[in-house]
Amino acid sequence: MSRRKIIIDTDPGQDDAVAILLALASPELDVLGVTAVAGNVPLPLTERNARIVCELAERPDVKVFAGCDAPLERALVTAEHVHGKTGLDGPQLPDPVMPLEAQHAVDFIIETVRAEPNDAVTLCPLGPLTNIATAFQRAPDIIEKVAEIVLMGGAYFQVGNITPAAEFNIYVDPKAADIVFKSGIDIVVMGLDVTHKALTTRPRVEAFRNLGTEPGRMVAEWTDFFERFDKEKYGSAGAPLHDPCVIAYLLKPELFTGRHINVEIETQSELTMGMTVADWWGVTDRAPNAMFIGDIDADGFFALLTERIARL
Ligand code: BDR
Ligand code: CA
Repeated sequence: MSRRKIIIDTDPGQDDAVAILLALASPELDVLGVTAVAGNVPLPLTERNARIVCELAERPDVKVFAGCDAPLERALVTAEHVHGKTGLDGPQLPDPVMPLEAQHAVDFIIETVRAEPNDAVTLCPLGPLTNIATAFQRAPDIIEKVAEIVLMGGAYFQVGNITPAAEFNIYVDPKAADIVFKSGIDIVVMGLDVTHKALTTRPRVEAFRNLGTEPGRMVAEWTDFFERFDKEKYGSAGAPLHDPCVIAYLLKPELFTGRHINVEIETQSELTMGMTVADWWGVTDRAPNAMFIGDIDADGFFALLTERIARL
């Protein structure tokens, strides 16, 4: 089997953690590296959390890099109110022992994409797009070499979660998102429209716990923790499990449907900063630049996730 080469760019975050576990549990994927960015919590915590998750998957061989500690043009906004002080609040977790790579995440991304053949590397951003945009700014030659970007970010019908108009990952670094959406690379967008359909209902969480393994228990306990916030906010049966949708799409794209449309990022207005202006109805003649996902087979998604977490 030829394994798909990916770089996971991430700001763990409990849902990022589940996405990393899903990738490491999946033989179809070759995780070339995990690059941390500031987002849900500051960089020293996101890189630390990424290493904790690799160790939980018993994969201390995975290379973890620290990247940008602040957005391109704005001050960092974090989300401890959702993810807790550490970003991975919930279960007790041991300190990571595996080392952080010395190289900067942006240099790793540039070097890796350059070294691989064209269309060999898929980028999987699960947080603000600062590392990815910085790599494109510093090394524009890599843009045409990237196979695809499958990212979690944005929203159209669900509009926003951190402001009334914007989703967190895009809001934190709208300038970076603008650079990425204008790059010309094929982009698949997992926004709130789809992730709000991937809800951690009780039976789904219990299925993780009932695996009887350490990773299964961690996924259940992380979910228990961040659920409290979203259930109260949305009055829903569970919380959206955002970031694993990106990895699930790589494994089973047939679980998802969407439209190939134009998506632009608002970078000027303070009121709607970071809004993903998605031409879902095709009312402009702006050229399509993204596959904007709108729907998911949620049962199929959780079945895949549970089956894969069981392998760890
Ligand atoms: C996104 O923001 C973060 O809080 C989550 O990890 C996810 O990537 C959802 O808006
Ligand atoms: Ca994230």
